[in-house]
Amino acid sequence: MDVLIRPTAGAAVKVAAALIDETLRRKPEAVLGLATGRTMEALYAELVRRHREEGLDFSRAGSFNLDEYVGLSGENVNSYRYYMNFHLFDHVNIDKRRTRVPDGMTADEAEEGARYEEEIRLAGGIDLQLLGIGRDGHVGFNEPLSSLASRTRSVSLTPETMAQNQPLFDRPEEMPRRALTMGVGTILEARRLLMLVTGEEKAEILAAAVEGPVSAMVSASALQLHPDAVVVADEAAAARLKTAGYCRWMFENDPRWARFRAL
Ligand code: GLP
Repeated sequence: MDVLIRPTAGAAVKVAAALIDETLRRKPEAVLGLATGRTMEALYAELVRRHREEGLDFSRAGSFNLDEYVGLSGENVNSYRYYMNFHLFDHVNIDKRRTRVPDGMTADEAEEGARYEEEIRLAGGIDLQLLGIGRDGHVGFNEPLSSLASRTRSVSLTPETMAQNQPLFDRPEEMPRRALTMGVGTILEARRLLMLVTGEEKAEILAAAVEGPVSAMVSASALQLHPDAVVVADEAAAARLKTAGYCRWMFENDPRWARFRAL
């Protein structure tokens, strides 16, 4: 795993955006795995800026989002489909027919999970999967105890996740208690993983995910099993890493990261 530590959240976002930019320029028809959450808002703003000012082209790209709330339609402002349109899709030249989010209104959640998996397979798999991390260590909505081999399915959210995301709802009691999410096994099949983590409230869980044991208790720890996983963190989120000194040295000296140093 490569852990890239940048001084500020803004600088971390720039590196993450540059990695996505590089993927699209190398392979314009790339299939991106996308994530939601507060952390990603600045990243999508930077991708929109690169589209407008630097010609970053999404016209041949496709996407699959990690997750969606059960019971919310795409018109609901709290749905992840709405979030994606609002923060990214409405502002870049992506063909919306190639943007996929699990269907939160499905009548058959198990069937929707299987259908989503099949759609990913038919699209040729995911080239770059973007990930955030929940305070309980989840990626997507893979709450503690999610099997490291899990596939797209519906899950019950933990009280911690309910508390974390309820402030985003106008009426907190309207937050669904379940969600459809790609499984940890689904995520691990992406060709590259890119996790963006900012803020001191993520410091403890990031250390557990990156340096702790691989465990279903912290689904983000599954990144340790992936041959090409990149974590971009700001100093605040990296504060509890025992390996922070090594990671900073690696970023400054490894030629693979040379073009990202000046960002
Ligand atoms: C939600 C999403 C996760 C995301 C997490 C972090 O729970 N399902 O994919 O990683 O939020 O959110 P934030 O960036 O707001 O801390």
